Amino acid sequence: MEFTANLLDFAEMLACAVDLMERGSHHHGQRVAYIAFRLFEKVKPGHNPSDLVIASYLHDIGIESFMTKEKARKFHTDKEILWLHCHEGSVLVEMVDILKGIKPFILYHHTDYSEIQSSSLDVPLEAQIIHLADRIEVQIKPHRPVLTQIEDIVDTILKYKGSMFNPELVEAFLSLSIQESFWLDIVNEYQSAVEYIDFPSMDIKMNANDIRQFSHLCARIVDRKSPFTAQHSQRVASIAVKLAEFCGMRGQDLFFMEIAGLLHDLGKLAIPDTILHKHGKLTDEEYRVIKQHPYYTYCLIDRLNVMDKVRDWAAFHHERLDGSGYPFHLTAGQLDLGARVMAVADMVGAITEDRPYRAGYGEKETMDIMWREVKDNRVDGDVVDILGKHYGDIVCGG
Ligand SMILES: [Fe+2]
Ligand SMILES: [Fe+2]
Ligand SMILES: [Fe+2]
Repeated sequence: MEFTANLLDFAEMLACAVDLMERGSHHHGQRVAYIAFRLFEKVKPGHNPSDLVIASYLHDIGIESFMTKEKARKFHTDKEILWLHCHEGSVLVEMVDILKGIKPFILYHHTDYSEIQSSSLDVPLEAQIIHLADRIEVQIKPHRPVLTQIEDIVDTILKYKGSMFNPELVEAFLSLSIQESFWLDIVNEYQSAVEYIDFPSMDIKMNANDIRQFSHLCARIVDRKSPFTAQHSQRVASIAVKLAEFCGMRGQDLFFMEIAGLLHDLGKLAIPDTILHKHGKLTDEEYRVIKQHPYYTYCLIDRLNVMDKVRDWAAFHHERLDGSGYPFHLTAGQLDLGARVMAVADMVGAITEDRPYRAGYGEKETMDIMWREVKDNRVDGDVVDILGKHYGDIVCGG
């Protein structure tokens, strides 16, 4: 039977991952999706909101760094920065066939209403909804009760009615803003946006190819953060699949292995660039921050509910047989073949890559390192043996 998943769950997972790119995630993607959905209900009653919700989840995937993120969160900010991440995001979604329709929603999510009026730009209403929802959300201050902030936010939005924002949408917002529950829903961290959305056709199935394309998108978003490891996730996925096959894994497990390889470092979005890009040795404190990443990978993939194997194989890539790995300190009996293969694939991927301070290691050095790991009871000897026998096919082969 073909494996399927729900696009909305994947989009929500990626929104959460992107939200990790700031200190203390504050659910920007989720909240914008919720506000956008409520606006859409007002102006397009009875219409299917799924494309809008997915685009709202993904609207900021073009943001590359912690710094840009902070700047984009200011109500008035540099137009250049805004345009750049809109454009980048719209290029990224093209990697996934089922997301192509939302490209203009992302491309124009910071385009002002006055600009749309005075030009021939074809800006869909959905993009204008995300624009308004986003600018409402960025005004909510985390440390004050949201109900005490309503007047200030409404005043600001009204001030820009007709210039920044579509007047029809501002009217829809005004009618929503009188409900306390609208505001409390936005900041409710116990519910995710989709749980409020009651629409029959929200369940958009992804087949294996859609899942693969979406996972490549996630991998690209992670890898583009580190200029010197621009292909790491993809390489790890390719090494892991080939190694798994030589180890006797078959069928759907190879597909899960590929997806796990693509997603294994998703939690790295939670690591500040200053640490991720550091050339020299990490301090103890920095290393502790790095250790967060497989934990977040676990939490993110766990949200999908349907891919437990993928979650484990991806998130256990820094676990070691003797229990010295992180973040769960699992031991041999808890690490199945898939997890053992992934740990080896990630190490091999990392040490054979060129870094600014060293060239990638060749076969002999790599195998020496791996055998030392086996001797110390950290990685699986059978897996390393198979790696050595088929090194050319696994590491270098296309
Ligand atoms: Fe944005
Ligand atoms: Fe990692
Ligand atoms: Fe990795």
